[in-house]
Amino acid sequence: MAPATAAPGPDAGRGAAPIVTIAGVGKTFGEGAKAVEALRGIDLSITPGEFVAIVGPSGCGKSTLLRLLCGLDEPSAGRIEWRDGEAGRTSVAFQEHRLLPWYSVIQNILLPATMQRPARAADRERGQHLARLVGLEGFLDARPAALSGGMKQRTSVARALFAEPDLLLLDEPFGALDALTREKITGDTEEIWLTQRFTALLITHSIAEAVHLADRVVVMSARPGQITDIVDIDLPRPRAEHISSPRFHELVTRIRDILLSGGGHD
Ligand SMILES: Nc1ncnc2c1ncn2[C@@H]1O[C@H](COP(=O)(O)OP(=O)(O)O)[C@@H](O)[C@H]1O
Ligand SMILES: [Mg+2]
Repeated sequence: MAPATAAPGPDAGRGAAPIVTIAGVGKTFGEGAKAVEALRGIDLSITPGEFVAIVGPSGCGKSTLLRLLCGLDEPSAGRIEWRDGEAGRTSVAFQEHRLLPWYSVIQNILLPATMQRPARAADRERGQHLARLVGLEGFLDARPAALSGGMKQRTSVARALFAEPDLLLLDEPFGALDALTREKITGDTEEIWLTQRFTALLITHSIAEAVHLADRVVVMSARPGQITDIVDIDLPRPRAEHISSPRFHELVTRIRDILLSGGGHD
């Protein structure tokens, strides 16, 4: 474990035991001449309550890393260690909302419970609380088809949070939304994070979204995916008030420059 540092601000949680440690992780698909090295030497620890974002070019292994964290696939090298020894619980919100069309909003949110047993009163209460948090209190009984794109993504995020994961994984969850809806939902996501302090790993193509949400932005290079830099975001929260500030712009520009110079490492 890294020694506790006295640095205030976004790094203050660094002294806490990481909820997950990714150590020297590599992933190669296939063998011989057809082998594709997707990830190489990934080292990253995430502390409880931290919001980490990953940005990187298409094909740099972001989704692969997410699948390794979910336990859907195994690293070819290195280890993923969870705080409690056994595999941590993860839940994912994807770019496609993956809601069940014949289920209402509340039924979709409760799905992590009802896949295993009938819903209890306490489940419903918690589900309604989450629906309120994501701004869907008036739509509990609506089917996905009746919802806007943003509302479907809100439902999907509420469902992922309902599972109370050790690590919430967000794989481009707002990528298909129009710019204004996306900005609104990003601000709302930060507000929810400020009240719930879940631990999150966000994959995004939007540098502004990463800077708005994350304590740290991990920048990855093209294949094989490697971490080229990790940028601490020292902006005060809530950041909706700061997205027009010079510092916000400076951080976005810095990350863009790192991405542009990241290139391949072959
Ligand atoms: N199951 C797989 N078999 C073979 N190659 C794969 C598989 N999954 C991903 N890849 C390859 O690994 C690389 C990283 O993919 P991915 O993690 O989806 O990237 P990203 O999410 O950053 O766009 C890509 O070159 C992709 O084609
Ligand atoms: Mg991907």
